[in-house]
Amino acid sequence: AGGGRIFSGIQPTGVPHLGNYLGALENWVALQNQYPSVLYSIVDLHSITQPQDPAQLRSNILDMAASLLACGIDPEKAILFQQSQVSEHAELSWILSCLTSMPRLRHLPQWKMKSKQKNEGSVGLYTYPVLQAADILLYKSTHVPVGEDQVQHLELAQDLARIFNKSYGDLFPEPSALLSSIRKVKSLRDPYTKMSKSDPQSMATIAITDSPDDIALKVRRAVTDFSSEVTFDPETRPGVSNLLTIHAAMAMISVEEAVAQARGLDTGAYKTLVTEAVIQRFTPIREEIERLRSDPVHLEGVLAQGTLRARELAAPVLREVRQRVGF
Ligand code: ADP
Ligand code: NA
Repeated sequence: AGGGRIFSGIQPTGVPHLGNYLGALENWVALQNQYPSVLYSIVDLHSITQPQDPAQLRSNILDMAASLLACGIDPEKAILFQQSQVSEHAELSWILSCLTSMPRLRHLPQWKMKSKQKNEGSVGLYTYPVLQAADILLYKSTHVPVGEDQVQHLELAQDLARIFNKSYGDLFPEPSALLSSIRKVKSLRDPYTKMSKSDPQSMATIAITDSPDDIALKVRRAVTDFSSEVTFDPETRPGVSNLLTIHAAMAMISVEEAVAQARGLDTGAYKTLVTEAVIQRFTPIREEIERLRSDPVHLEGVLAQGTLRARELAAPVLREVRQRVGF
């Protein structure tokens, strides 16, 4: 990849699920070996845009830190840190919010969706994409791995880089999207929707810390359809196709190969194969999370180290911003 700096963030929502793992974290691990400078942030400032519990948040931050490390994020290769500990994020966010028009935010998908669910939303939820832009620009990041659902938010970051540069002189590179190539993992109970932590159905989502028994039960209960044959056809057979996607990704084989392995099996028997692939991949991760989680002081130390390194990069950029703005 030559030069370039990667920034990506994940909310401390507790332990990630299978969709987060395949859609984001697996790619994060690959990218830390491909780019000379990589920052991964546990974006806790974003977590307080909705009602939350402080003790739960504190615990979720450590769960996420342990999960990222267990999935293979290497603090030697990537700066892993907690967003709120680098106060430059909030300050740059304020400055950028003064360059953002109200209508520019109103049509962004996250606001439309979440404010509708709640019937109202906080100002923080509304300006959340500006904070995301600040997260990225603060490090003069050049590349941002995103899911398709985040593309419009990255476009705001690009716009704000341009607007800032035009108002105050060239400072920020326009960050480009690194679109993840993975097909979206679907809910096991409703394969027309994506697997999500906020799915109220308990059997719909596999957490990376689920026990082998839980994984087996969830896969067994996964919605397929009335044909007993295993075929890959996301349009007409989304349930079975989702299992093939999961199986292939977890066993690190192609979907064609997964279909070949399913030949002669009915969907019930095939689910055993899928279960085994998921258990095999997640067992060492689950054990590592348990080990890391038993030593919170060590985890806090890893995050504190990351914070120092992130601040070293952020401070001179914000100093420059302040000067340009006239402070
Ligand atoms: P959730 O939908 O569970 O709230 P987030 O929106 O916090 O998950 O997503 C965190 C990261 O995981 C993002 O990069 C997102 O694109 C990815 N991701 C979330 N759900 C899935 C899924 N079902 N399949 C693939 N990637 C996903
Ligand atoms: Na998100």
